[in-house]
Amino acid sequence: MLEVGTAIGYSALLMAPLLDEEEGHITSIELDDVRHEMAKYYINQSDYADTITLLKGDASQVLTELTGEYDLVFLDGPKGQYLKQLELILPHVKEGGVILADNVLFRGYVRGDKEPPKRFKTIVKRLKEYLTYVENKELFNTTIYPMGDGMSVSVWKGHNK
Ligand SMILES: C[S@@+](CC[C@H](N)C(=O)[O-])C[C@H]1O[C@@H](n2cnc3c(N)ncnc32)[C@H](O)[C@@H]1O
Repeated sequence: MLEVGTAIGYSALLMAPLLDEEEGHITSIELDDVRHEMAKYYINQSDYADTITLLKGDASQVLTELTGEYDLVFLDGPKGQYLKQLELILPHVKEGGVILADNVLFRGYVRGDKEPPKRFKTIVKRLKEYLTYVENKELFNTTIYPMGDGMSVSVWKGHNK
């Protein structure tokens, strides 16, 4: 699994016990120095230190150096960069792989008529572009769950579709 936006390691630690004990692995990227160190601290105290690899840096850069293959991706970093990040990640996603993206309905501004305040306009525009992309039925099967701030679940149909 690949996660963008580790924060202090909460979701990586929640998902780690669900992985295949022999082969499952999580790679997670965090930009912020303090959060990266806190994630390292908590993960090193857990049973999953060998299961979770923490990378530090701006995901937009780190993702250009990605080498692995992933069957699950969790986008939870900067909301305005989901599409750019997905484009970098897709060559590394297995056919049938799943992409989760959190906060895609962003405070109710992404779907419906509610006008976002000026400071959210770019994020909202980019989240709309992200959803348009993953709702292309040629490429993905996508469901948007409206709980919380909205989570999209997209099954990637693969490069030959
Ligand atoms: C909502 S939090 C992630 C929460 C985490 N998934 C969890 O549930 O424990 C978003 C994180 O993305 C990080 N972030 C923001 N911009 C980033 C970037 N360009 N590259 C990597 N991480 C970034 C932030 O520092 C923050 O810790």
